[in-house]
Amino acid sequence: MVNTQAVTRRAVVTGASSGIGAATVRALRAQGWDVVGVARRADRLQALADETGATTIAADLTDPDAVAALAEELEATGAVHALVHVAGGARGTDRVENGRLDDWRWMYEANVLSAQMLVASLLPLLRRAASSDGHADTLFVTSTAAQVAYPGGSGYNAAKAAESMLVKVLRQELNGEPIRVVEIAPGMVHTEEFTLKRLGGDVQAAESVYAGVEAPLVADDVADVIAYALGSPGHVNLDLITMRPVAQSAQHLLARGPLRVQPEA
Ligand SMILES: NC(=O)c1ccc[n+]([C@@H]2O[C@H](COP(=O)([O-])OP(=O)(O)OC[C@H]3O[C@@H](n4cnc5c(N)ncnc54)[C@H](OP(=O)(O)O)[C@@H]3O)[C@@H](O)[C@H]2O)c1
Repeated sequence: MVNTQAVTRRAVVTGASSGIGAATVRALRAQGWDVVGVARRADRLQALADETGATTIAADLTDPDAVAALAEELEATGAVHALVHVAGGARGTDRVENGRLDDWRWMYEANVLSAQMLVASLLPLLRRAASSDGHADTLFVTSTAAQVAYPGGSGYNAAKAAESMLVKVLRQELNGEPIRVVEIAPGMVHTEEFTLKRLGGDVQAAESVYAGVEAPLVADDVADVIAYALGSPGHVNLDLITMRPVAQSAQHLLARGPLRVQPEA
């Protein structure tokens, strides 16, 4: 039976220990959601919990036992109205012929298999919440790397494209159920760790990726869009939102230097 009382909705946000995930926890808390933030680094999660009033669970989302334990803990502690899967990332910029198997394996596990395991484990809880409270949500942060190949895209192109396909399949499989399936595909987002981790901790190389770019997206920009998608009326499914900084008109077309209006002829 659908609950007609206003309920406080609870979202599970992965990747909560940094960047877009942490910003999403803040944005959803500001909109009145109960939030459970998930990542591996418990110290960072604790700081975010202290700051925002979110609860947190430390888990390695590439470990099937950890995902099962997460689902059990969530079930024991309340409803799950939304799964927001932000965790993931890139490793390496090698050509395909030089790709390191460990990097490729990490990217497939962190971006794709984590998404599959989360869906498998949390869908029963999302269905329960949708039956009692009208609808439930799944939202995945993929990337423009899921849409456009580029030299050195490495396993990141492959993994994000696979994650994006999973999202599209899921939306069709859930047809007829009041469960939304949303994909957010950001272009360049200047977060503290993403590029640093991709480039093996090379601070200078990581900074040079953003050098001269006026106003790349920041984590809060993506979090705002996530909060908007989840806050929109329950019958509105934003299938795919591709978002980039104005300076990045296409994957390969990145303006460096100040943005300037072309002088009148
Ligand atoms: N930054 C960009 O330019 C950009 C652009 C498009 C898409 N994206 C995507 O947006 C998402 C977030 O990116 P970001 O910039 O915020 O990167 P980030 O700061 O590196 O955040 C990645 C998050 O994923 C978590 N994580 C990684 N492996 C995990 C695992 N095995 N188990 C649990 N949590 C794990 C990390 O937490 P722990 O290390 O504590 O586990 C961290 O919280 C990623 O999926 C990324 O591919 C980023």
